Amino acid sequence: MNQFLKGCNLYLVGMMGSGKTTIAQILAPQLEYRYFDTDRLIEQVAGQSIPEIFAESGEAAFRELETKVLSELCAYTHLVVATGGGIILNRKNWSYLQHGVVVWLDVPVEQLYQRLEGDTTRPLLRDPDPMAKLRSLLDQRQSLYSQADVRVIVGPEDAPEQIATGVLSEI
Ligand code: S3P
Repeated sequence: MNQFLKGCNLYLVGMMGSGKTTIAQILAPQLEYRYFDTDRLIEQVAGQSIPEIFAESGEAAFRELETKVLSELCAYTHLVVATGGGIILNRKNWSYLQHGVVVWLDVPVEQLYQRLEGDTTRPLLRDPDPMAKLRSLLDQRQSLYSQADVRVIVGPEDAPEQIATGVLSEI
């Protein structure tokens, strides 16, 4: 186990609601790694919540902060990082992600929607038809997520501990 990882950072990627934060928090103590979440770091740097950043400065400014935070994390090793769902959009981010092992938590869109229904913390889902929005984001991003080193397919009945074990068996 963990032959692949060898002290490198572990980056969890995937759509909003795919469970990156939950799984990263389970994996970090198991690997004896430190846990970080790029969204929380962005909020600390900006002194604002994600919806405030989007509302006041726009998505492009948010993406710049996302790249800055990711580049700074790359200076460290032995981290488990839960990334924001759009981190895969910027080609520059891949140059940072490639220093570690990238795991895609692949969750069906229906399941994502169930988890995210009523959520007010994701500005991109503030849409008259959030399900259609989720589908279109996933369509745009699927080929980027599939560039991850490892894809873990998550089923509707899978418990977080099981998913974490699935990740560990692949790295
Ligand atoms: C985003 C996902 C969010 C957050 C921001 C944008 C996206 O993170 O970074 O709202 O573009 O998919 P989570 O994936 O942790 O929800």
